[in-house]
Amino acid sequence: MDEHIFHIEGLTHQFADGTFALNDLSLTIQHGKKIALLGNNGAGKSTLFLHLNGLLQPTAGKIRFKGKKMKYDRKALLSLRKQVGIVFQDPDSQLFSANVQQDISFGPMNLGWDRFKVQEKVNWAMAQTEVTELKDRPTHFLSLGQKKRVAIAGILAMEPDVWLLDEPTAGLDPYFSRQIMALLDSIHDPEKTIILSTHDVNLAYQWADEVVVMNDGKVIYQGDPVSVFHDEDVLLQAHLEKPWVFEMFQALLQSRNPSERDFFPRTKKELLQKLETERNY
Ligand SMILES: Nc1ncnc2c1ncn2[C@@H]1O[C@H](COP(=O)(O)OP(=O)(O)O)[C@@H](O)[C@H]1O
Ligand SMILES: [Mg+2]
Repeated sequence: MDEHIFHIEGLTHQFADGTFALNDLSLTIQHGKKIALLGNNGAGKSTLFLHLNGLLQPTAGKIRFKGKKMKYDRKALLSLRKQVGIVFQDPDSQLFSANVQQDISFGPMNLGWDRFKVQEKVNWAMAQTEVTELKDRPTHFLSLGQKKRVAIAGILAMEPDVWLLDEPTAGLDPYFSRQIMALLDSIHDPEKTIILSTHDVNLAYQWADEVVVMNDGKVIYQGDPVSVFHDEDVLLQAHLEKPWVFEMFQALLQSRNPSERDFFPRTKKELLQKLETERNY
């Protein structure tokens, strides 16, 4: 298989009111990676996701998925959506069935699986996202966090190769944010690509294999999560703060031997281990 899952060239999207949400954007996404998409409100993250799932069509430019130019006929879209699952930023755009269980079953039923397989996957997805006890509840009375978990369960049950998650932790309390991130870690393997948009630099820094920064409908940075936070111009342009672990470590380095500068801790645990080594030194 092509190791590039998405290859995007000169992608431009103009909405009916004239707004250019994407502006000659080029980006290549490797298969099997965990990618964090960072950018201001209005940078074009959600619009990009809608393109990757074939829900919007380019005004100009093209997208290749697994080496083939994306097509928009019914058959092509059905096949794309079996492989690429999207969790919308606003769960109200995603949930429409009478109750939670029916909603989660909708996608898997459309994959043509038999009833038993659908039920098995739906039960598993509900358990993973901790929504089993909500299964008979109407979706429109759920809290935002509950709706987000139900939306994630609906995609989880379909087991796509590619996950697009538009701000999955926004509005969740810390417990469920951690649960969602742990869940993503558990589903990730070298055959799955996860692209997640977020405002949370701490989350992006610790979780991602690669960070993509968008600004004004363009990609202004793509690279590893340690390098991006060294790039003051990008941080300024995209209004990004530094992750706290990164910032603490940078402060500590001021009094250190420069040969130590190679490895940057990305989690609280790694930072504490660094401090421990230092103490014993
Ligand atoms: N349906 C729409 N019609 C017109 N403009 C839109 C529409 N959706 C988004 N936009 C505009 O496109 C730009 C990019 O939006 P969006 O992709 O939602 O950014 P982000 O997800 O990074 O916040 C913004 O200027 C936004 O106002
Ligand atoms: Mg958005």
